[in-house]
Amino acid sequence: MEVLKRKIIEEGIVLNDQVLKVDNFLNHQIDAALMLAIGQTFAKLFAEDGITKVLTIESSGIAPGVMTAMQLGVPLLFARKRKSLTLQEDLYTEKVYSFTKMEESEVTVSRKFLSPTDRILIIDDFLANGEAALGMARIVKQAGADAAGIGIVIEKSFQPGREKLLEQGYRVESLARIASLTDNQVTFVPDGAG
Ligand code: G4P
Ligand code: NA
Ligand code: NA
Repeated sequence: MEVLKRKIIEEGIVLNDQVLKVDNFLNHQIDAALMLAIGQTFAKLFAEDGITKVLTIESSGIAPGVMTAMQLGVPLLFARKRKSLTLQEDLYTEKVYSFTKMEESEVTVSRKFLSPTDRILIIDDFLANGEAALGMARIVKQAGADAAGIGIVIEKSFQPGREKLLEQGYRVESLARIASLTDNQVTFVPDGAG
């Protein structure tokens, strides 16, 4: 997605060779017009997939997720993150380990918002190690629903997330794929690369 890549080049800050800061338009301040364009792009990619609900995870997935849901005419559901939780029967719960933050959290979704007839589009802001997306996919499975695919705003292709998701058979659509952040420079994966 060219407008997104341009935004990353113009406003993204390479913190180190692993982390891209995009507080200007995605993770803190939000560029609403860009989010709308992102939602339109995801909606187009998954237009023929019978999506009944978009699932994301708080907090940074919500902005692109809600725009996608609006374009598809379905609800957005966001998984909640908590440090630890006593078991609650009305929740689907999955543990998600963050390699970036070196901490485990529990992600939860109320059972009443997912059903076996749902076809879910999973959306997230970043794909790094894939743990958040895999956690959401496990929740979809717990509910007996289908995951039609995973839409990612910014994929760090030098980390293993994409491969892990593809290995498990998920369709992955990333709007910007970063090949490298070395030498303070953002390099994208060429369009059409596998
Ligand atoms: P994973 O799900 O792909 O395994 O990612 P990981 O645990 O490594 O990421 C932990 C958090 O850091 C996630 O946000 C993720 O979106 C974010 N993240 C990972 N790499 C980058 C990066 O290069 N730049 C930025 N800006 N964020 C990155 P989170 O903790 O869930 O926070 P939020 O959704 O509330 O923002
Ligand atoms: Na984030
Ligand atoms: Na996130």
